[in-house]
Amino acid sequence: MEDALIIQGGKQLKGSVRVSGAKNVALKVIIASLMIDGEVTLKNVPRIADVYELLDLIEKLGGKAKFTDQHTVSVDGRMISKDRVDLLHGSKLRVSFMMFAPLLQRFSTCFVPNPGGCRIGARPIDRIIDGMRSLGIKVDYDSTSGYYAAKLQKSPSGSFRFIKPSHTGTELLIMIALLGKNTITISNAAQEPEIDELIAFLNSTGASINRSKSTITVSCPRKLKGDVLFTIGGDRNEAITFATLAVATKGNITISGFTLKLIDSYLNALKQAGGGIEVLSDNEVRVFYQSPLSKGNIETSPHPGFMTDWQPNWAVLMTQAQGESVIVERVFENRFSYVEELRRLGARIDFIRQPIINPMEYFFFNFDPSKKYNQAIRVTGPQPLHGGVLTIADLRAGATLAIAALIAEGESIVNGLSILERGYEHFAEKISSLGGDVEKV
Ligand code: EPU
Repeated sequence: MEDALIIQGGKQLKGSVRVSGAKNVALKVIIASLMIDGEVTLKNVPRIADVYELLDLIEKLGGKAKFTDQHTVSVDGRMISKDRVDLLHGSKLRVSFMMFAPLLQRFSTCFVPNPGGCRIGARPIDRIIDGMRSLGIKVDYDSTSGYYAAKLQKSPSGSFRFIKPSHTGTELLIMIALLGKNTITISNAAQEPEIDELIAFLNSTGASINRSKSTITVSCPRKLKGDVLFTIGGDRNEAITFATLAVATKGNITISGFTLKLIDSYLNALKQAGGGIEVLSDNEVRVFYQSPLSKGNIETSPHPGFMTDWQPNWAVLMTQAQGESVIVERVFENRFSYVEELRRLGARIDFIRQPIINPMEYFFFNFDPSKKYNQAIRVTGPQPLHGGVLTIADLRAGATLAIAALIAEGESIVNGLSILERGYEHFAEKISSLGGDVEKV
């Protein structure tokens, strides 16, 4: 199987690209579709490994979930006959724990393993389990098997306040709230736009879910009706990758197929650093190189801040900017796997210690004062990069290493393509169509 890219760097990327449907919307909407009494048709679903993995899991449980044409998926959960997510799917798919909702709806009990996914930190689901328990679900964890056993004893009720927001946690609790007949409030909820898309989907099936800033109210759930058609929005993470490539390769790329305002914080940072931006419509932007870049400090935070998924792309861009850029990661405790790899290409990046007055509040992961964290880097530029052999450790770092190889002089090998392809559709093909020299091997 092809699991590497050979890239000849140094080419300017130019042309137009349309981003695919958003992974982090498609996965959740597919799972939520299993709660609908009927068939659901989803358009603009990306053909990426994570989606295939989820469709396979659903088929293994007895449900129907398959592509019916290039980007259309048909889902029908009514025939699901098993109440247990197997360990293999659980270990590969982060969102596998969201199966709690459709499985509890169908069987009132279910068994779900501790989820896997990208290793960008410990990634516990403690807040999410607390939330389920607060709403009345009985959840027990068996540390020997690594499985959670959940039981729907009565109609979920009450309210839950996240101590710190969780994106997929918020989404799961919305779905859990739909299992009963009571109005449920979730506060200090995450505000990522992917959550709004999930809400829009559920509301289109008859649910009544309302978000006001960080408070979400799920009102008196009714039976969710089938025969629904829903279109997944474009992937903002893919959009910022092409925006980065346009400037980093001194190129010029028109990016379409997504909602522009969802990447405002990235485009603002890019503009400040000297990147050229021409807004063509609400769904299309031209990003281009216009002058040498200047340094840009960023710190990540949940929406509407500078998204954690964008920080690795920003770091590689800053290797080409004049000055010292400081990047602070606040959301995950291990999202700098790419640093060592970029250093192999000649990048000058150092881990630095930033004085943080109240780290328990400042960081969004469960900060442990007895541990040492590497949460900030200083990137010194501009630094020409040279080719090398790189290894991808997580999805977003994958796109970052590919960008680095595309701006480096000479040949690079980027190993671990399968990790990148979990979330980016036709990545190599899109890069080639923009004039990049990339081959899958
Ligand atoms: N956290 C806990 N306990 C919990 C829940 C979260 O400690 O019960 C911690 C996490 O470990 C993390 C922080 O809280 O340090 C925030 O985590 P959150 O739950 O918000 O993130 P997530 O739901 O696991 C989703 C996306 C990520 C994206 C983040 C931030 C999906 C499938 N994943 O993760 O996307 O970075 O929200 O928006 O939607 C990716 O696509 O590559 C990716 C990692």
